[in-house]
Amino acid sequence: MSQHPLGVSREVVLGIGGGIAAYKSCDLLRRLKDHGFLVSVIPTRSSLNFVGSATWEALSGRPVQTDLWNNVHEVPHISMAKKADAIVIAPATADLIARIACGRADDLLTNVVIASNAPIILVPAMHTEMWLNEATVANVEALRKRGVIVIDPAVGDLSSGDSGVGRYPETKEIIDVVENTFNRKADLIGKKVLVSAGGTREAIDPVRYIGNLSSGKQGIAVALDAAARGAIVTLVIANAPEISIEDVEVIHVVTAEQMLAALDANFDSADVVVMTAAVADVRPKLSASQKISKSDLTSIELLHNPDIIGTLASRKRHQVLIGFAAQTGADRLSKAHEKLVSKHLDFLYMNDVSNGAIFGSDETEGVIIGSSLEDLDIPMTSKATLARKLLTLAIDKLG
Ligand code: CTP
Repeated sequence: MSQHPLGVSREVVLGIGGGIAAYKSCDLLRRLKDHGFLVSVIPTRSSLNFVGSATWEALSGRPVQTDLWNNVHEVPHISMAKKADAIVIAPATADLIARIACGRADDLLTNVVIASNAPIILVPAMHTEMWLNEATVANVEALRKRGVIVIDPAVGDLSSGDSGVGRYPETKEIIDVVENTFNRKADLIGKKVLVSAGGTREAIDPVRYIGNLSSGKQGIAVALDAAARGAIVTLVIANAPEISIEDVEVIHVVTAEQMLAALDANFDSADVVVMTAAVADVRPKLSASQKISKSDLTSIELLHNPDIIGTLASRKRHQVLIGFAAQTGADRLSKAHEKLVSKHLDFLYMNDVSNGAIFGSDETEGVIIGSSLEDLDIPMTSKATLARKLLTLAIDKLG
């Protein structure tokens, strides 16, 4: 595996779509190799009409496969998906973009795309009308929302003799995007990121609890992004199914007090703390060991749970603290600003959860606020993209 000076591997899958610009990817492949990337090429069947496998094998120095039905015993789509640190598809045709947007997996390349967690960079190249077609526009928008990087095509002469938007961009521009993706990956090396996720539960009796709707998805997205960027990650997650994430220490907890204890034990060594968990604000003063019959269930005496992030913030030294606030109502932004100050946070993501929106979803919409930041609107986007943005802010703050 090729190594970046910071120890990050540099394996790239280069997917080739069936467009005339496929020949330009021969140069892209050579330049990627010049930059120290190890490249495995996966051409689509139709792209072989433009550039044949022999060219890709000679230029990459690796065998080239197009369909799923060779070397089946090696399960090539899974092994290539796991090995890839980035997937670059150039040219990405309208059809290939549509297939990826739909989650299709009808050839080796789309199988690898759907089976991989690596960043995906699409380099569209097509005739202007195809790029501007409503279907392509919607597909590109959907992919960007999911965190796929889609490079805008250049404007200029097209193979049809027309001129307009749709040209394969300059190779250097593509290489810059690939390098940025890898550099971003390396920007948390040596840092420790502590993440809380899920919703705590406070037992009333063995069958009932006080809890909330948090799914834990946002915290998992933060942990995944932090690990992908080279951080040492601890994820303290409440009431989620048993999970194991590569390169992430996962600690399962149930109650707010357990969550505080787990975070407290990891706080001093952390550089970034991301508190996505929804903590139950109160717990029953007494938790019955036997089920309470409904006729006796008339009132529950409550105690306030500790404010976890507030408690930890009192010991804050160099740590960057990021909180989340699920708010409703017209004054939600001013309430979020109050929490930013009262909890001594560096950043806070406020999402509007009126009507149960956001909970359990893969997407989110809200505002990032910070002590030294203009309010930053986040239009509907994937939780993975939000995670990436928040960690980038934390890194800038850490200096
Ligand atoms: N939080 C915490 N401990 C608590 C409650 C909340 O650490 N006991 C954290 C949450 O994880 C989140 C931030 O504080 O990062 C804001 O959570 P929120 O529930 O909006 O704040 P509360 O202080 O509970 O305010 P309120 O319920 O009054 O809106």
